[in-house]
Amino acid sequence: MLIGVPKEIKADEYRVALTPAGAEMLVGAGHELVIEKGAGLGSGFTDDFYEDAGATILETAEEVWARAEMIMKVKEPIEPEWPRMRADQVIFTYFHFAASEELTRAVVGSGAIAIAYETVELDTGELPLLTPMSEVAGRMAVQEGAKYLEKPQGGLGVLLGGVPGVKPGRVLILGGGVVGTNAAKMAAGLGARVAIMDINLERLRYLDDVMPANVETLFSTRYAIRKQIQEADLIIGAVLIPGAKAPSLITRQDLSLMREGTVICDVAIDQGGCVETMKPTTHHDPVYDVKGIIHYAVANMPGGVPRTSTLALTNATLPYAISLASKGWQKACLDDQALKLGVNVVGGHVTYQGVADAFDMECRAIDDFLGV
Ligand SMILES: NC(=O)c1ccc[n+]([C@@H]2O[C@H](COP(=O)([O-])OP(=O)(O)OC[C@H]3O[C@@H](n4cnc5c(N)ncnc54)[C@H](O)[C@@H]3O)[C@@H](O)[C@H]2O)c1
Repeated sequence: MLIGVPKEIKADEYRVALTPAGAEMLVGAGHELVIEKGAGLGSGFTDDFYEDAGATILETAEEVWARAEMIMKVKEPIEPEWPRMRADQVIFTYFHFAASEELTRAVVGSGAIAIAYETVELDTGELPLLTPMSEVAGRMAVQEGAKYLEKPQGGLGVLLGGVPGVKPGRVLILGGGVVGTNAAKMAAGLGARVAIMDINLERLRYLDDVMPANVETLFSTRYAIRKQIQEADLIIGAVLIPGAKAPSLITRQDLSLMREGTVICDVAIDQGGCVETMKPTTHHDPVYDVKGIIHYAVANMPGGVPRTSTLALTNATLPYAISLASKGWQKACLDDQALKLGVNVVGGHVTYQGVADAFDMECRAIDDFLGV
């Protein structure tokens, strides 16, 4: 199959859909690869790396889109890319269709086959192509939070690890899933005193077993949260209710219980955030202040560390990409239920119930297109 990788053009996006190592594997499996000039630069991969791996570099995105039978990307196609999509072309990327009716209608109108990273789902309910980005965001939340706790950044002026003779800082993590666990590991490693709150007791039992002694687990209630936020230096929002807006766990009123200079890093901002006063920010302007509380709410945190994120993402996507390219999308989906769940749009029809429901569109059964 001829696979194309264009350069990402969304603001603040430096990741690329394929590493040179991935390129080498796809070429080794007998596929032809075209990559837009400079596509990997933001992640530290020059064109020579890809050429050495057997790929062909093309000057423009138009050429890549025009030639490829399958496009691999990171972010959803944005408006300038819409006219480039075409019927029967497979597009394998994050789409987050439910967030944009215009995007959904553009992809439906193109006749392309949209396979969305975010809805590929294992039997266990795990989302294997979202997990690596949650791992990145969870770890990064502590790094960013520690930075904004510094006094010149508006923070409390607390060093998370403390020093001999001085207490370490307190980190409160709301949600003990992938983001929360990774944040806890980082914060604990720095020497902070960490509390993870969750409503899932089984999860708290597991975390209690595996976490070091400076991490405690607490059942999440409004009462307990109100109490904990008064002592925390850094609060990390990491909750998720699948398919729903994040619950608002810290209200505007609660801010007055906290000390000025406390930092809240709300990773769950991409689902609306779990703090009432939180609104999305960007890597260029990541924080703002409400009642002296620093709010950090970058919606695409992994985009800020592309060298790590590109590798983490492609480690997870590559086996699926190889399967799609080698078997064709229909056979690949027939053989793999998880990948089949990733198919959101086929040949002008929405095939994923959540997307159809979001815009009151008809949902066709994916099996209709797989010949079963
Ligand atoms: N901003 C970014 O760049 C970025 C990157 C990756 C992930 N995220 C987001 O981070 C959030 C967390 O993702 P995840 O992969 O860790 O999800 P996850 O499903 O692994 O974990 C979520 C946890 O929240 C818990 N929870 C639900 N309601 C709660 C409540 N009221 N109090 C305490 N805990 C509660 C759940 O029991 C679960 O353990 C999601 O919204 C995800 O989209 C954002």
